[in-house]
Amino acid sequence: MSKITAAITGIQGYVPEYILTNKELETLVETNDEWITTRTGIKERRILKGEGLGSSDMGAEAIKGLLKKTNTKAEEIDLILCATATPDMIFPSTACLMADKVGAVNAFAYDIMAACSGFLYSVSTASKFIETGSYKKIIVVGTDKMSSIVDYTDRTTCIIFGDGAGAVLMEPSKEGYGVQDSILRSDGSGGEFLHLKAGGSVKPASYQTIDNREHFVFQDGQPVFKAAVKNMADVSEEIMKRNKLDADDVAWLVPHQANKRIIDATARRMGVGDNKVMLNIEKYGNTTNGTIPLCLWEWESQLKKGDNIILAAFGGGFTWGSIYLKWAYDSNK
Ligand code: UT7
Repeated sequence: MSKITAAITGIQGYVPEYILTNKELETLVETNDEWITTRTGIKERRILKGEGLGSSDMGAEAIKGLLKKTNTKAEEIDLILCATATPDMIFPSTACLMADKVGAVNAFAYDIMAACSGFLYSVSTASKFIETGSYKKIIVVGTDKMSSIVDYTDRTTCIIFGDGAGAVLMEPSKEGYGVQDSILRSDGSGGEFLHLKAGGSVKPASYQTIDNREHFVFQDGQPVFKAAVKNMADVSEEIMKRNKLDADDVAWLVPHQANKRIIDATARRMGVGDNKVMLNIEKYGNTTNGTIPLCLWEWESQLKKGDNIILAAFGGGFTWGSIYLKWAYDSNK
């Protein structure tokens, strides 16, 4: 019997309507469009407005679109994996809430928390469930409402993040398409440079944590930047070597969109030209778990069956990784 691989067979994104421009940020903090653009590559980001809406609502929109597009019934879904750093609540999982919202009554569902690398960790996890033959239809969602944990008085973080979601359908392939290899890494000693101080079990919410603004993202930008440049490039180079790929073999690099300078460094190390790098950071900023599926969604029409694609991410934890996959379909299927 031929080996089963796990292929992405559909992709859908969702971004909220509201556009937060660099110009508007200039009215909130002491910053300017020129600084933001040259240091990060970001021009605008989307913000989810509206009472009672969270990451699950964006993720559910992406899933609904995905089901429609792939002619899949919600009841057919075996598993929903949700990568998020901004769950609707600490529990239940955002995946469970989304399963309910889309009517995936036969799916088991859980969240994976690996900050900006969560989507990669989740795709890799899903691929194992499929490769064993246990499950046939898995949806992996990356969704984050970063605006819920961003301090709009802190110019070093509020310029970076945005809200958004993306979802992929993963199914077995008998022809060898889909995930070929993955390298996932973590280093908890990096936690001190990028974290959210309060609201967890160590420091539950209190008047004091609110007064101290400890429910917002804390980032020491420089050490995170350095680690991101090194690790994302290292792991992308490693996955190419391990699979005997040279730059010509790679059709697309799909990097986490945290900072254009980090992306450029990774592409340079891989020897891949700008024309092969998916980049939409200028429109959406860093949507954490949304970045990679949103890129795939926007580039879907350009992807061809058999394309070699490298996904790469780095984020809080620290966590990082790279996935090599063979694209499974021509978009006008
Ligand atoms: O996705 C999760 C992983 N996260 C990342 O990968 C993010 C990694 N880090 C970064 O992308 C960058 O470190 C930042 C974009 C966060 C910051 O850029 P930087 O080039 O590292 O700037 P910096 O922190 O070294 O700050 C340089 C200067 C400072 O002023 P002084 O001390 O030189 O006078 C900052 O106060 O720029 C100042 N600055 C700003 N100026 C205008 C910081 N933020 C701003 C701002 N507008 N928004």
